[in-house]
Amino acid sequence: MRRQVGIIGTGSVGTSVAVSTLQAGVARTLWLHDLNAARAEGEAMDLAHGAAFYPACALRTATLAEMRQCDVVVVAAGRNSRPGETRLDLLRDNARVMADVGHALAGFEGTVVLVTNPVDVLTRVLQQASGLPPERVLGTGTMLDTARLRQMLGAELGVATNSIHAQVLGEHGDSELVLWSGAQVGGVPLRQWRGWQAETEARLAHAVRVAAYEVIQRKGMTNHAIGMVTARLLQALLRDEGRVLTVSRVQQGAAGLQGVALSLPTVVGRGGGVQVLVPQMDAAEQAALAHSAQVLQAAAASVAA
Ligand code: 2OP
Repeated sequence: MRRQVGIIGTGSVGTSVAVSTLQAGVARTLWLHDLNAARAEGEAMDLAHGAAFYPACALRTATLAEMRQCDVVVVAAGRNSRPGETRLDLLRDNARVMADVGHALAGFEGTVVLVTNPVDVLTRVLQQASGLPPERVLGTGTMLDTARLRQMLGAELGVATNSIHAQVLGEHGDSELVLWSGAQVGGVPLRQWRGWQAETEARLAHAVRVAAYEVIQRKGMTNHAIGMVTARLLQALLRDEGRVLTVSRVQQGAAGLQGVALSLPTVVGRGGGVQVLVPQMDAAEQAALAHSAQVLQAAAASVAA
């Protein structure tokens, strides 16, 4: 692989993705594109000036059409959510942008990574507009929520974040669900952890669900954690890791879901999100996943109308 990575949209999120990607050392060339060409050029220059501090990587600007030469293209174009607005409120504005990007990427041979919100519905919009196979149009989905859950659980239990095995699935948004029945640390199910209570689950699930709103209220947007999450996903794709990540993609039958994009644990490697895994879920989790899928189907229908 030539490890050519493109980023469409060089706002606060796109540039955070760029910084994390450079520091992770996964790209050989980073191609930046923005509707405001001067902005993309300025960001490329600024990032290039830090070359002494990350593994070798060239910085270039590119047109939308030139992005098709990349191995992976990250789409961070569109606007952010405003304070008090849910991710789905953003839908109409950003769906138009995604349809345009999707048309420009028709026939693309690499993988598209979508970051823009509402990420699940837009993953479906972009997949349909581009005609690319579902495994090669991935949304960052609940990777960020999973990262937040693990960070909060680590703090709660006094265990390193990396040693926590727990996942958030479904929508990257209000209808997401935590897979508590399968969560464990060192083989110990969390539900058997000393002092663990139903209240702990409700409190942490809520904290994860509102985490973005809490940040947006204070700084107007979120960008750093999503940048790191995206760099992690790029690493799995470009290094063909086969890593299981909670990315979003249009589902084709997994867990009985068809045509809706949402997050399930997915094996990610060179070919994209190639294998969707269906974890064991208790009845409440199954119902929560079905509800999340319904919310997203309704949102997708509203934008198609
Ligand atoms: C986040 O969860 C807003 O989706 C963005 O940080």
